[in-house]
Amino acid sequence: AQELPLAGRHVIVTSGPTHEPIDPVRYIANRSSGAQGTAIAAALRDLGARVSFVTGPAEAPPPSGVEVIRVQTAREMREAVEAALPADAAVMAAAVADWQVVNARDSKIKKDGSGRLPVLEFAENPDILRWIGGLDEGRPDLVVGFAAETDDVVAHATAKRLKKGADWIVANDVRPETGIMGGAENAVTLITGAGAEEWPRMDKSEVARLLASRIADTLAEFLPS
Ligand code: C5P
Repeated sequence: AQELPLAGRHVIVTSGPTHEPIDPVRYIANRSSGAQGTAIAAALRDLGARVSFVTGPAEAPPPSGVEVIRVQTAREMREAVEAALPADAAVMAAAVADWQVVNARDSKIKKDGSGRLPVLEFAENPDILRWIGGLDEGRPDLVVGFAAETDDVVAHATAKRLKKGADWIVANDVRPETGIMGGAENAVTLITGAGAEEWPRMDKSEVARLLASRIADTLAEFLPS
């Protein structure tokens, strides 16, 4: 039997939203079903990779046959990714909340009848993609980020690739009228050092398979970590 192309390779995939608590019953999050990240983890597994799947609280059940690391917050996600290193590739598909609530409460905030409203204070979350993309030591050979854009998709995603130190950015057009958020299909543009490739609209599972096979082709040029 022929060996699978990602046999002996380790890939970290982040997926889903993060939840940033306000109090024990409330949180802030981005919209993310986790569908695309889950499909990517499954496609990498199907090519023989060992997959560390670091997921926030997503609707989509995680794939079988991968190591599932469940987290809530962006800080927990960053720590889980760090703990999963070394890796040959990292695919950061999570919709990480940009801010955490620094005055989160340990008990439920009540309407006290005084008319005074709670005020939330924010601090910036760690940018996991930028952190891993900029690692001097132990950086995965291939770092892939996502960009959800509503306008000037290629220009914004190309700038993001450089800013975040990613090798590739998978850009998707998330204007509400596309139906992509929470839907079964995706229309992506792959931004690499060589330019922008617009892929036809297809199922998220098909996007995942194509991306996994591109990852396998690229990792073939590197020794396993
Ligand atoms: O900056 P923006 O959120 O648009 O970038 C999206 C990309 O960066 C995605 O790959 C996402 O997983 C990653 N990201 C991250 N940590 C953050 C914010 C975004 O890894 N705090």
